Amino acid sequence: MGEIKSIAVIGSGQMGGGIAQVAAVAGFGVTVFDKSNDALTRCKSDHAKRLARMVEKKQVEQDAADAALARIKYVHHLDLIAGADAVVEAIVEDAKVKADLFAHLAKIFTAGQVLATNTSSISITEIAAAADHAHKGAGERVIGMHFFNPVPVMKLVEVIKGVQTSPDTTERVIALAKAMGKTPVPANDRAGFVSNRVLMPMINEAFYAWMEGVAEPAHVDEIMKLGCNFPMGPLRLADFIGLDTCVHIMNVLADGLNNDRYRACPLLKQLVAAGRLGDKTGRGVFDYPKAP
Ligand SMILES: NC(=O)c1ccc[n+]([C@@H]2O[C@H](COP(=O)([O-])OP(=O)(O)OC[C@H]3O[C@@H](n4cnc5c(N)ncnc54)[C@H](O)[C@@H]3O)[C@@H](O)[C@H]2O)c1
Repeated sequence: MGEIKSIAVIGSGQMGGGIAQVAAVAGFGVTVFDKSNDALTRCKSDHAKRLARMVEKKQVEQDAADAALARIKYVHHLDLIAGADAVVEAIVEDAKVKADLFAHLAKIFTAGQVLATNTSSISITEIAAAADHAHKGAGERVIGMHFFNPVPVMKLVEVIKGVQTSPDTTERVIALAKAMGKTPVPANDRAGFVSNRVLMPMINEAFYAWMEGVAEPAHVDEIMKLGCNFPMGPLRLADFIGLDTCVHIMNVLADGLNNDRYRACPLLKQLVAAGRLGDKTGRGVFDYPKAP
């Protein structure tokens, strides 16, 4: 298969919605699938609102915004994405759920399509193995394409090759990331790759600092913002990422690097158990009264 002209995005949450938007604005045909109808409906209305805001801010012309929206299809059945040249998966950060999905994708995408995952931390090699098991050779088309939040703003795409990933797949994903206006940077397939290997333990430590009474959450963040020149503090960033996603990533680091120092802080886990997931639920470490 040659150049990628259309992509399927699986998962229409924070990341999938952003990836679909950026791809459509860049001229790709986009098909979005989510197992939740509510999530899909929310994603569609978010796209309309965000594109309207881009027109207001003169970032795109009205015609281009209309054309971008017209390029996105929202589908309620996974098999309806089958015509795409590439898949970017952005569902829940759970190794078993992702492996099952890629096994299914390997069977419906048999014409050389790239199968990319936006996982923050899960082994690409293991996801590729699940694809290979379902359809021999499919693992060479599996690759990590790790976007950052918010996708329309953040330039980086961490590109992670699994053991099975072919050079052709890597080249095509680098070209795709560039065509979406992003900067692809390679990293190897170790738990957390580079970004979360470094970032997540810092966020986790901020929860420990709060739990142990070193400082109030707002002060933890203020110290890190002013002291390290971060645009936002680690606890605010955790809310933005999603506290559930932070716990998932810490679990992957602890298991993948076989070291208990990466275990999620009990206070972080407790907030997740209480349904305080951050911006997306209106409450995490901090409160977000206007959230959906
Ligand atoms: N949030 C971040 O800052 C961030 C950054 C980079 C990468 N990621 C990764 O992106 C992925 C998605 O994260 P998010 O923040 O967008 O999560 P999210 O909770 O906002 O969205 C996930 C979506 O996937 C859907 N979903 C779950 N299981 C599914 C399945 N089996 N089939 C189809 N849809 C399914 C859910 O209904 C939900 O709409 C995760 O792997 C996460 O680690 C997140």
